[in-house]
Amino acid sequence: MSEHDFQPITYDPRGVYLPGTGLEPGDLAALAPRLEAARAETLADVDLWQSHGPVPKEKDPLDAGFLTLPERLLADHAENGARSEVGRILATANRFNEHVDRAVVLGIGGSYMGAKALFDSCCHSYHNELSREARRHCPRIYFEGNNVDNDASQGLLDLLGRGPATDRDHRWGILVISKSGGTLETAAAFRIYLNSLRTSLGDTHKLGDFVVPVTGPSGKLYDLSQAIGCPEMYYIPDGVGGRFSVLTAVGLLPAAVLGLDILKLLTAAADMNRRFRELPVGQNPVLDYVGISHLMEVKRGATIRVLSTWSKGLESAGLWYDQLLSESLGKREHGATPITVVNTRDLHSRGQQHQEGRRDKLITNVIVDQPRRAPLAIGMSELDQDKLNEIGNKTLPDILSAAIRGTNEAYAEDRRPTADLHLPRLDEAALGQYFQMMMLATVVEGRLIGINPYGQPGVEGYKKHMNKNLRK
Ligand code: PA5
Repeated sequence: MSEHDFQPITYDPRGVYLPGTGLEPGDLAALAPRLEAARAETLADVDLWQSHGPVPKEKDPLDAGFLTLPERLLADHAENGARSEVGRILATANRFNEHVDRAVVLGIGGSYMGAKALFDSCCHSYHNELSREARRHCPRIYFEGNNVDNDASQGLLDLLGRGPATDRDHRWGILVISKSGGTLETAAAFRIYLNSLRTSLGDTHKLGDFVVPVTGPSGKLYDLSQAIGCPEMYYIPDGVGGRFSVLTAVGLLPAAVLGLDILKLLTAAADMNRRFRELPVGQNPVLDYVGISHLMEVKRGATIRVLSTWSKGLESAGLWYDQLLSESLGKREHGATPITVVNTRDLHSRGQQHQEGRRDKLITNVIVDQPRRAPLAIGMSELDQDKLNEIGNKTLPDILSAAIRGTNEAYAEDRRPTADLHLPRLDEAALGQYFQMMMLATVVEGRLIGINPYGQPGVEGYKKHMNKNLRK
């Protein structure tokens, strides 16, 4: 246990030390001075950002504000209670939840993936199908505005406002999230869903009460939200980039609407900051993860980073990291390629390639040590044609453990390196640590290889051509 009431997540890279194809003992220690320098630079960047002084060209943009965000939000909450950012988010979520039975979250990229990761990992696997009581009076939740998929959008519209808005069970609302306030996918979806919301509310309620925007302190979405008369708006603080914004209102507001413990999320992230600042290489999950991943890339050509998640609830958390790594380090022909798999599902699809394909991968298992729910046993049956009575007393977690161990053994037999990231449980404490660990690791790795992890100039290319095609 840490000093808090949750357990730390741990990184165990023992499976990478394999003769010929993996690392050698001492490799990480030899890299330690460079890792420590990258940590020092990452922390110095926070001071530079806070000073509002001139930023050297190679560090521009410098979005180091995410790093101390958990501590700042927690201190604000301790001091200002209900008037703090977290206090306001909790109050908005309570108000919103009292009035609606469905919430549509509009956003894309960093304005979507963190909230989706929290929903998939921390909520009931069939949240939207549960009764309102079983959902603890939280709304059903849907994610849109992250694509321009006509049929998916129509499909969701089919579900919304199917009865009179005087009945709460038929009322719905929108959380619209866009830092720039101008991203086309989100803006187009907002217009479509807002029109539908206006129609479904009729003159029973004020439209603005059913829309909560999260955006920058100016811009198109800001202006539109003012025009609609939204009584509550949240701002993404300066110096926090989109994919580093999960612990701002971008992730915290949807999480609070889902009834998740956002103070625990922040406390856990702050605890990861503490470990990052204090612990030496060899005990520091952030520096060790960066060191091992980097060494495997430069020494063994492992340019593909497989995040091998061992829980269905972690798929979106893996995709969140895919975006973080791709947009941060995929620059100037650098940056490993991230891939998320979910096992045991993908052992039956990608497994063959990981076992016998090119030796260009580092597999990092993300393992949840304890399920949240009671273990389901296979059970005994008079119909033993399936020959399962032999293992009838085993549970699904027993099978999963055997699969994890077995898969690592099979990889090791063929000298395929693996590392393990252990999450004690799938909950806010684990996700808070995980988010902060991966954001820190991405920045430290950027500093290590001389790539500015902030900004995503390459994303502009498609936007330019799409707009040209659309408006000509
Ligand atoms: O990391 C980023 O900055 C991007 O992925 C953005 O989050 C994404 O493009 C969405 O941008 P916005 O929040 O401005 O709509």
